[in-house]
Amino acid sequence: MCGITGAVGLKDISNVLFDGIRNLEYRGYDSCGVALMNRNSIIVKKNVGGVGDVYQKENILRHSTHLGIAHTRWATHGQVTRNNTHPFLSCDKKFAVIHNGIISNYRDLKTRLQKEGHRFDSDTDTEVIPHLLEKFYQKTSDIEASFVQTLNLLEGTFALAFITHHQPDQIYCAKRESPLLLGIGDEVKFIGSDFNAFIDHTKNAVIIDDDEYAIVSKDGYTVKNFVTNQEVEKPITRIEWDSETSKKGGYPHYMLKEIYEQPQTVVKALEVEEKTLNRLVDMIHKSKSVQLVGVGTTYYVAMYANYIFSALAGRYIPAISSDEFVSLSPADKNSFVLAVSQSGETYDTLSALKHAKSKGAKTGAIVNVMGSSISRMVDCPVLQGSGPEICVISTKAALAQMILLTRTALKLGLKDKKLTQKAYNGFMKSLKSLPDIIEALLNERSGFIHRIAHQHRNVKNWLYLGRGVYYPIALESALKMKEVAYVHAEGMPCGFLKHGTLAMIDPDIYSIVFIPPNSEKVLYQATLASVEEIRARSGFVLGIHFDERNRNPDLFSEELILPPVPPVIAPLIQMVIAQLFAYFTATSLKRNVDKPRSLAKSVTVG
Ligand code: M6R
Repeated sequence: MCGITGAVGLKDISNVLFDGIRNLEYRGYDSCGVALMNRNSIIVKKNVGGVGDVYQKENILRHSTHLGIAHTRWATHGQVTRNNTHPFLSCDKKFAVIHNGIISNYRDLKTRLQKEGHRFDSDTDTEVIPHLLEKFYQKTSDIEASFVQTLNLLEGTFALAFITHHQPDQIYCAKRESPLLLGIGDEVKFIGSDFNAFIDHTKNAVIIDDDEYAIVSKDGYTVKNFVTNQEVEKPITRIEWDSETSKKGGYPHYMLKEIYEQPQTVVKALEVEEKTLNRLVDMIHKSKSVQLVGVGTTYYVAMYANYIFSALAGRYIPAISSDEFVSLSPADKNSFVLAVSQSGETYDTLSALKHAKSKGAKTGAIVNVMGSSISRMVDCPVLQGSGPEICVISTKAALAQMILLTRTALKLGLKDKKLTQKAYNGFMKSLKSLPDIIEALLNERSGFIHRIAHQHRNVKNWLYLGRGVYYPIALESALKMKEVAYVHAEGMPCGFLKHGTLAMIDPDIYSIVFIPPNSEKVLYQATLASVEEIRARSGFVLGIHFDERNRNPDLFSEELILPPVPPVIAPLIQMVIAQLFAYFTATSLKRNVDKPRSLAKSVTVG
């Protein structure tokens, strides 16, 4: 939702914070600000806009200092205005606070503080924090005690940090449910919402857990639990990602870079250790009921897996959108709930897992971000190893999740004797051919996809249609179009056409149909029948198919013909094509590709 960072130790902290906060911009980017420790005061600079703009507008780099904190915001409470931008100061301007999360009892706290004479400048929940710190410090003259008192009053979720002129060499921070890490450099220490906040400077991190706070200085750090008041020993986690993979590397956008990284992402997903997946397979195997959960793209990944588990392992494993999981409440002590999440911090998916745990279910997750809340809370985490996905639009992470879930289904099929070893080997061989096929397609077809995307950039309504396992691919591809190009796109099963949607087909409705290889005869013919239904009503159809030798200009208005591939990888290849189609539509419409309006990379609020 929002990104927070802080650093203490170097002389040019404004610069360091600039890099950190820019690397976190994908978490939120409607406004940003910094608080810098000065000899006589705390300097707060903030404004509406992206990090680059605000740094320039506010001339932040001219302030050299040894300590500071910074925040990039995705508005939840209060409009996007300068006043609502973090950091927030106490009345005496001695405390500056940044925060990610939601303080759910802020109204009560604010009313009480206002009655006591505290003045508020913003509509945010966060602003109560500096005033509480100030209030308790006036009574105790003890920063740490005031912090603990404040934390124990806050309800809701937070990763927060503050600096205070009373202790100008320390950063204080704390966490409950929103992610928070420390970065441990030799001569500089960091705090951050995730590794990207300090990955340019150190690969050593300390993961702060719920109800913990830390006091960080140039030379060290202390971590304590604010409920028990006990000091906590924290291990150092070594970050595997390098800072270069977090950069754009010559691509105009992270989205394009991440689409082009997919051959490598698939290789990594294929390299995830057998023993890790065997454990997951065992948990599925011995559980009476299994549910898959995810939200947005990861819900569609879960739906995809639903089809794959049925087809390859003969096991029905329903997919439930994380945000609906609590209402449906399908888990009990005989269940296993398998979550899918790139960030590992998504509020809805975390809530679903917590609910499942509270019912006694076992849990697992396919997750990309090491050390994330989801990866740590489940019984069986599987790290997908896709490297940082910076663009708000998920591409490579989703593909890797699909590969891992397919591998899991294959193993389960083998274990439950639904697949022979020979069939298993054949499927694995097909999966292993995927990186080269994607690589070739990206190189050879992107020009053509660019052309048709540009040609159809002004289409107002797209229908994305698929049958069977191609249906979740249609849904996911439509989501890509909506979120990056802001173009209405509706994913649906082909079978729905004659149950209502055909009524609106006319020359202004454009459809993309995901057609299976013709070796999948029944599915193939049924899909073509849907194409006929649309064409009979003068609807436009872009067919994505594998019939290299059978061009069909009479049937399709436009064809995107792919070389024949084994059925198990066919939908994945079509998904990559649809990612590029959405990307080029967005660039033709001059959209803000990596940071689409109103979205954030990890949605840590409900
Ligand atoms: O980090 P997660 O995978 O848990 O995120 C889930 C969704 O918020 C995410 O997939 C979202 O739908 C993306 N914008 C899709 O591109």
